[in-house]
Amino acid sequence: MKALILYSSRDGQTHAIASYIASKLQEAMCCDVVDLLQAESVDLGQYQRIMIGASIRYGHFHPALDKFVKRHAERLNHIPSAFFSVNLTARKPDKRSPQTNPYTRKFLLASPWQPKQCAVFAGALRYPRYRWFDRIMIQFIMRMTGGETDSSKEVEYTDWREVERFAQEFRQL
Ligand SMILES: Cc1cc2nc3c(=O)[nH]c(=O)nc-3n(C[C@H](O)[C@H](O)[C@H](O)COP(=O)(O)O)c2cc1C
Repeated sequence: MKALILYSSRDGQTHAIASYIASKLQEAMCCDVVDLLQAESVDLGQYQRIMIGASIRYGHFHPALDKFVKRHAERLNHIPSAFFSVNLTARKPDKRSPQTNPYTRKFLLASPWQPKQCAVFAGALRYPRYRWFDRIMIQFIMRMTGGETDSSKEVEYTDWREVERFAQEFRQL
């Protein structure tokens, strides 16, 4: 059995999550991890399972996500498939399910693809790595939502046990 994990990541956290999931699946299936921006060159027909993970920036997933999903909805709906989103809103437990996380909920409502499995993971906040404008904007959002505002800090909110559970469920789809 061969699985494909596509990721859309700007700062690397979604890529790290996708790679971790692949490492957890390794014993059960052969797993390729590919950037969603390179996905059009991949022959999807060779995979029996597909997972897509995507992060949020300024309220949106990368447009490549919608484009890919629209184009391949039939194939995605036909085989066991999974979706996970990554964002900082999900650092709050009451915003960490597909129904309560606003970005994920909106995506699922509009999507022609209905993944069999879905999760929301809290991402990472890495002030020192952001450009000046992004740092100021994120700091402002964090102030408004009661989050970390110290711009010298890097905080990883991802719960890796949750990610591992997600990988186990995917194995059993
Ligand atoms: C410029 C910027 C904008 C962001 N906008 C949002 C946002 O609108 N909502 C949110 O919940 N998280 C937002 N985040 C947090 C990211 O989703 C989070 O850092 C995630 O871990 C990024 O994943 P990636 O490294 O795979 O891109 C933003 C982060 C940055 C750097």
